[in-house]
Amino acid sequence: MTKILITEFINQESLNNLKNKFDVKYDEKLWENNKKLEEIIKDYDGLIVRNKTKVNLNILENASSLKFIGRLGVGLDNIDTENCKVKNIHVQPATGMNADSVAEYVLSSSMSLVKKIPMFHSGTVKGEWPRTTIKSAEINQKCLGVIGFGTIGKKVAEYALKNKLTVLAYDPYFAELNKKEIKIELSNLKEILEKSDIISLHLPLTEETKNLINKSTFSQMKNKPIIINTSRGSIINENDLIDAYHNDLISGFALDVFENEPIKSEFYKKISSDMNCILTPHISGVTTESNIRVSDFIVKKTTEFFNQ
Ligand SMILES: NC(=O)c1ccc[n+]([C@@H]2O[C@H](COP(=O)([O-])OP(=O)(O)OC[C@H]3O[C@@H](n4cnc5c(N)ncnc54)[C@H](O)[C@@H]3O)[C@@H](O)[C@H]2O)c1
Repeated sequence: MTKILITEFINQESLNNLKNKFDVKYDEKLWENNKKLEEIIKDYDGLIVRNKTKVNLNILENASSLKFIGRLGVGLDNIDTENCKVKNIHVQPATGMNADSVAEYVLSSSMSLVKKIPMFHSGTVKGEWPRTTIKSAEINQKCLGVIGFGTIGKKVAEYALKNKLTVLAYDPYFAELNKKEIKIELSNLKEILEKSDIISLHLPLTEETKNLINKSTFSQMKNKPIIINTSRGSIINENDLIDAYHNDLISGFALDVFENEPIKSEFYKKISSDMNCILTPHISGVTTESNIRVSDFIVKKTTEFFNQ
């Protein structure tokens, strides 16, 4: 019987369906023990992971039977995809299955930060009643700059248009826009930095995108935008972001992803409760609903791949 190993959490009902078809070992903590994974991977035909399992060359060199890797999510930076190709291992992300969840995060954090909810909350729980001392605004008619116009960038644009924002998008690899499909303007990075009131990042982490948002790009932002990062941590230089906030180049930020996860104290010690910011532990794509969609999708793809 085809053997499948799962090293991170999966929706229980989807797991039960998988167990009806395959010999499944489920250990949601196994991602913490790469040595053990290296030892046992040789026995498995399929592997299902989220973003914490490091599927590196050591794992792949021991994976003599492995033909399929299912990713319960979309970013593939924890998987050595080049060597998977060499070894003819099919890598299957759950493309689009958590896009609504991320888009809701981007819109809700945009509204919250433009309205300065974190600062009102902080002042109120300190007993300060900052009703007139903090000035807030509305997102209606504000300009959202989307950097990276793939699956999630497009979904975010769709949500933003429904909430009466205007949208600019930058993606050098995006070929053409069907204007009937979505009413946004394709733009360049300079224009996005200069015109946006909110900037949201939806890129993969590559050599090209690492530190894309840095001291120089912050200095080109003219509207003191809100910065939102749900993509990958190192795309924003975190030290430059904190400096940009204190130098009044941006008016707030929401970070769901970080250079180091869990975040290190050197970073969170720079955050104080009176700042207009939201920090979350890489959860923008994870909701009850998206977990079901993502898990069901990967179970379906695993089943199709092994033709069960
Ligand atoms: N925080 C979370 O829970 C969560 C959930 C889902 C996805 N993500 C992350 O969000 C990001 C986007 O995911 P997706 O599914 O939309 O990916 P995608 O591959 O569909 O889209 C990424 C887009 O970025 C574009 N791009 C690449 N390099 C670029 C550059 N230098 N400048 C501008 N655009 C560039 C690509 O052309 C592509 O269109 C990924 O990093 C993914 O890992 C995070």
